[in-house]
Amino acid sequence: MVQATPFLLVLFLALGAHSLSVKKCSLIGDWVNDLGSNMTITSMNAKGVFTGIYHTAVTATSNKIEKSPLQGAMQKSPNQKGQPTFGFTVNWSFSDSITVFTGQCFVGDDGKEVLKTMWLLRSHVENIKNDWKATRVGVNVFNRQQLQE
Ligand code: BTN
Repeated sequence: MVQATPFLLVLFLALGAHSLSVKKCSLIGDWVNDLGSNMTITSMNAKGVFTGIYHTAVTATSNKIEKSPLQGAMQKSPNQKGQPTFGFTVNWSFSDSITVFTGQCFVGDDGKEVLKTMWLLRSHVENIKNDWKATRVGVNVFNRQQLQE
């Protein structure tokens, strides 16, 4: 028991140091996805509720693209281990559609943060007969926007 104490102490210190050095994934900041769309997450409160701006590179409409607001929530449970799950909604300001994204913020082997997401884009249709064609589904991968010089 006496001999085990220093060993356990070293083990706890090592584990503590490791958890301090592991990089956490943060949603705050500027992101660009595989379509070239830009997203800025500007604020997050203590409960993980966040807001931001989405500038899509593409549209399913013929409308002129405009920046649109997003609102979301990030999981704050301790089980997230620095790679949190999240969801957000983009309420398109230039179309009748709405998109929900769900995903997880990862730190890759290269130490870079990446958001792996899936989305559902709901378009407005004139009547219930057209409901079957109103929803698109896809994936997007977001990387942190590199700082411009
Ligand atoms: C619309 O066309 O009605 C609104 C714009 C939708 C853009 C979609 S949302 C999913 C996908 N990811 C993007 O970054 N843009 C498209």
